[in-house]
Amino acid sequence: MAGVTVAVTRAIPEAGLDRLNDAPEIGDVRLWADDLPPDPEELVALLAGCAGALTLLTDQIDAEILDRVPGLRVVSNYAVGYDNIDVEAATERGVAVCNTPGILTETTADLAFALLMASARRIPEGVDYVRAGRWQTWGPRLLLGQDIHGATLGIVGLGRIGQAVAARARGFGMRILATARHEDPVADELGVEYRDLDDLLREADFVSLHVDLSPETTGMIGADELALMKPTATLINTARGPVVDTGALVEALREGTIAGAALDVTDPEPLSADHPLLALPNALVVPHIASATVATRDRMATVAADNLLAVLRGRRPEHIVNPEILA
Ligand code: DGY
Repeated sequence: MAGVTVAVTRAIPEAGLDRLNDAPEIGDVRLWADDLPPDPEELVALLAGCAGALTLLTDQIDAEILDRVPGLRVVSNYAVGYDNIDVEAATERGVAVCNTPGILTETTADLAFALLMASARRIPEGVDYVRAGRWQTWGPRLLLGQDIHGATLGIVGLGRIGQAVAARARGFGMRILATARHEDPVADELGVEYRDLDDLLREADFVSLHVDLSPETTGMIGADELALMKPTATLINTARGPVVDTGALVEALREGTIAGAALDVTDPEPLSADHPLLALPNALVVPHIASATVATRDRMATVAADNLLAVLRGRRPEHIVNPEILA
């Protein structure tokens, strides 16, 4: 068969697979069709002999894997986050690493805001109440929640997604605080006041996390930080699970140190059905679906495929994490 082989580590939307199947320089698209990700040995077998890999955040691409698949030229991640890839190891081996930034910004902000609203207004509890046949009359004290308008939102990390969340909060008449590595003029336009993390945690009614996972942000919200939050406050995480110390969060939710948590991402991920977080009525957990809309996932698939093809064609991809390897 003429042309190079590429691997796709799960069934991404057809739009992305079509791009690869239609590319003249690709002889074979090797697709991992199982619902669960390949384990490390299966991943090596899948990638053996491949020039490109279109990967997911569930695939750990480390130095050992890269050494075992020496022909690999590009790892194109179907995600904006790339904490599953050892970028330094890839760069040392001349392997391009690509991602899909920008595309899922608004969709992720939508979910962060949906989590905020669902937890503030106790929507999952209301749904369960009705389904359980407990709705007998209008209740003056039934499922009382928190106001969103007029409340203070603390955004930890005012990057692309943090700014998109701020724009939504502004429309809801919230006061908006944020931490940021660099001040950005857009903060003024959005009516955002900067705070350091401790002050933000003390003042906010809702704290929404929007930082990348890195050694600096791992465990950034632990017992000390949770203790600074108001007992009426809610923590929202659509960033990465390990940004929050799960044990400390379970304790804070149990003890009433904070009122609630709404999580799209967890540590570990996935959570087993008997995980202590899932036994807590004030924890709302959804399975890492922030970018999960038809349109956004289609676009992520085509962009990830295009990034991969660009590297194989010797061109600069639209999104590359380690551009220095192109020099
Ligand atoms: C990402 O892209 O990093 C999200 O977590 C999944 O879409």
